[in-house]
Amino acid sequence: MNIQRREFLQIVGGAVLAGSAGLQPASAKSSAIGWPSFGFPDDKVPMNAANICPMPVIVSEAYARYARELDDDLSPGNRQRIEALRESARSRIAGLLGTSSDELALVRNTSEANNVIVQGLPLSQEDEVLLWDQNHPSNSVAWDVRASRSGCKVRRFSIPTETGSVDEVISRVVDEIGNNTRVISFTHISNISGFRLPLAELCAAIRRRKENVHIHVDGAQTWGAVDVKLGVLECDSFTGSAHKWFTGPREVGLLYVRKQHIRQIWPSVVSVPWGSDVEPSAVGARKFDALGQRDDAALAALDDAASLHESMTPAGVEQRSMAIANRLRDGLQDLGVPFVSSTNAAFTSSVIILSTRPAMGDELVDRVFKDSGIITAMVGGFRMSPHFYNTEDHVDRVVAAVGRNRNMLA
Ligand SMILES: Cc1ncc(COP(=O)(O)O)c(C=O)c1O
Repeated sequence: MNIQRREFLQIVGGAVLAGSAGLQPASAKSSAIGWPSFGFPDDKVPMNAANICPMPVIVSEAYARYARELDDDLSPGNRQRIEALRESARSRIAGLLGTSSDELALVRNTSEANNVIVQGLPLSQEDEVLLWDQNHPSNSVAWDVRASRSGCKVRRFSIPTETGSVDEVISRVVDEIGNNTRVISFTHISNISGFRLPLAELCAAIRRRKENVHIHVDGAQTWGAVDVKLGVLECDSFTGSAHKWFTGPREVGLLYVRKQHIRQIWPSVVSVPWGSDVEPSAVGARKFDALGQRDDAALAALDDAASLHESMTPAGVEQRSMAIANRLRDGLQDLGVPFVSSTNAAFTSSVIILSTRPAMGDELVDRVFKDSGIITAMVGGFRMSPHFYNTEDHVDRVVAAVGRNRNMLA
C-alpha cells in the first residue's frame, strides 16, 4: 500500500514538523518538503542514527498493520498481496539510488550484504584485498576469516584524521594498489570516526589506476543520509541497513551489485525463491535474497519507508541531516571540546565523535541522557549522530549537557 501524501505530510508553508513534540527543525525555511512524525517522547530523543533510527509513526504503523493482516489471514491471495510490496519497495529504492531493481538485493542487514561480497567474490590465493583500517568488522574481520579459509591476502591502508585534502586521501588509497590487488573495500562514512571519504572522486581514481579491481563500498552510514546515485558511481557493490538512516524496518538490508558482476558472485544462502537449477531463476541481484521465509511485514513496510523518502527526496534529507549536524559541530567547537572526527568540511558527516577520558565514555553517555534526554552512544569515542528528525532544540540540549560534563572528555 502506498502512503498517501496527505496522510503524513505536514507542510506548513514550507515549514515542517518532526518528533512527537512537533518541534521546528533547523531548516524549516527549506522548500515545501514534508517531514513525517515520530513517536519518541521529548525525554528519550534518539541521536544515534549511526546505530539505529526510529521508524516514523506511519511506517511503524504500516509494519504492525501488515503483520496483523498476515496473522489474521494467511490465505495465498492475502500473502501475495503483501509480498508484492517487496518488489514495489525494490523499485522505489532503485529510483532513489539511481540504479535498476535488477541490481538490488533486499537482504537482512549490512553485515549480511557485506558478507555476500566477502564470501562470494571468486579470489585466488595470490589475490590481494585492500581495506580501510576503519572498516566495520563485517567488512574487515570477515575478510581475515575469508583469507584464512581460502588463502587470499588482506592488506590495510590508513587515512589520518588530519589529512588536509581530497587529493591526499585519494593518493593514500591509490598508491597502495599493487599488481595483485583485486578488491578494494571501504566504508564511505566511518562509524568509528565519522570521516567521510570523497566517494565519487575516490572510486573514479581507483578505476583510472586499475580497471578490473572490484570496488566495494559499505554504505551503512550513507543509505538514507546521503544522496548517492549508484548508477554514476564507479563502484561495483554497495551495502546498507534500512534500520539506520533510512528510518525503515529493522532487519532489512540492501545489497547493490553492478549488473556485470552478479553472475560471478556466489550467494551465501540458496533457498526459495532461487529456483530448482544451479542457475538461479531469480532475476539479477534477487539471487542474493533467496533466503527462504522472510518477515514479509517488514519488507512491505520498507515500501512505505521508501515512499516517504521519495517525498522528502534524498537531496532534501541530506541537506536537513547535514544542517542539523553542522549546528551540532559548531556548538561543540564553540565549547572547545576534543574531536575524534575531522572538522575539515571536505570530510565531515552527520556522525560526530568526541574524545573521552579513559573508561569514562559509558558514564558520559549516561550522564548526557539523564541531563538532556538525548540518546547518544560510545563508539570510537562519545558519538552523536543526529538525523532529519532531530531539531535545533535537541542539538542545543546535547551541547549544553556535554558542556556540563566536559570533565569526562579527554
Ligand atoms: C559501517 C558499518 N557497516 C556495517 C554495519 C553493520 O550493520 P548491521 O548491524 O545493520 O548489519 C555497521 C553498524 O553499525 C556499520 O556502522
